[in-house]
Amino acid sequence: MINSSHWVQLYSVQARLKFLNLHVYTVFMLVIQDLVKKYGDFTAVDHLSIALQPGEIFGLLGPNGAGKTSTIATIVSLEEPTSGSVKVFGFEVADSPKKVKSLLGYVPQEIVNHGYFSVEEILKFHSGYFGRLNNKKQIHFLLERLGLMPHKDKKVKHLSGGMKRRLLIAKALVHKPKLLLLDEPTAGVDIELRNSLWEFVRELRDSGVTILLTTHYLEEAEALCDRVGILHQGRLQKVGPTKELIQDLTFRRVQIKTNLSAEDLKKVKGEYSLMGSTLNFKIPSEESLGALLAKTGLPLEAILDISIQEGSLEEAFLNILGRA
Ligand SMILES: Nc1ncnc2c1ncn2[C@@H]1O[C@H](COP(=O)(O)OP(=O)(O)O)[C@@H](O)[C@H]1O
Ligand SMILES: [Mg+2]
Repeated sequence: MINSSHWVQLYSVQARLKFLNLHVYTVFMLVIQDLVKKYGDFTAVDHLSIALQPGEIFGLLGPNGAGKTSTIATIVSLEEPTSGSVKVFGFEVADSPKKVKSLLGYVPQEIVNHGYFSVEEILKFHSGYFGRLNNKKQIHFLLERLGLMPHKDKKVKHLSGGMKRRLLIAKALVHKPKLLLLDEPTAGVDIELRNSLWEFVRELRDSGVTILLTTHYLEEAEALCDRVGILHQGRLQKVGPTKELIQDLTFRRVQIKTNLSAEDLKKVKGEYSLMGSTLNFKIPSEESLGALLAKTGLPLEAILDISIQEGSLEEAFLNILGRA
């Protein structure tokens, strides 16, 4: 009989194989199929389907109110799906909520206050909740790695917002889950903490943890996510590898500084805007610089400088929302 710990081992082996670029076959860690979540008559999640591959960081993106937290809430069984299926490691959440909770780590968007207890006490209680009573090594690793060690004896009510956020992350990881759900992990944290959290999330991914994060902060998604899904009014508008999505949906901006006279500038071919003797082009992401230069007919000696600005996820996102 295969039990859940066998599954976890199997998935983590696959995550490592993927890390080594050995794609034997793909098993999904989290499969959401045709999920609908309604609050009364209001549909917050509208027939959403996504599947997470082992060892990837997947970003669920969307403006406020898009349905990101509602989706996460159904995965951790805080909310019941109105219809559809959510499976974690092959377990249907609605049928095995406790099992699923023990297999994943969840960092909520809202900071929950356990003011009276100390940082270390909370991590110990939480470990106990998962049946891990002797978990000092993992707790100390997390305290150390998340910069909480100097604060371990402080009561939570005396922690700063950033520290509370780190504690939430430590809490989600005490039982070494292979699937981590982060709901807006860096909302309201300073740049330094944000960068160190990004680094930690990448480290977790590289050690074989699969990560689903939600964010409305597109720079974060572009820096972190292997794949993204864009949610708008509960509907998935687009899903794909982050880089491909940017390429498909944005332009490259090429600025060519020349030493041409007004007269010679008139002879340059193609569509561009002019600023003095500098030409600004907007070309498809797949078009090469060589092809552009050949088209313009610019003599090489007339080119003083070239700068290229690639498209961003933010641009791609606005493009999609504009069409939605
Ligand atoms: N418990 C609830 N009752 C009624 N409406 C809700 C509830 N939770 C969320 N909503 C509504 O569902 C929509 C999606 O919310 P949410 O999932 O929190 O979006 P996001 O996390 O993308 O900002 C919003 O319009 C929100 O007001
Ligand atoms: Mg939210």
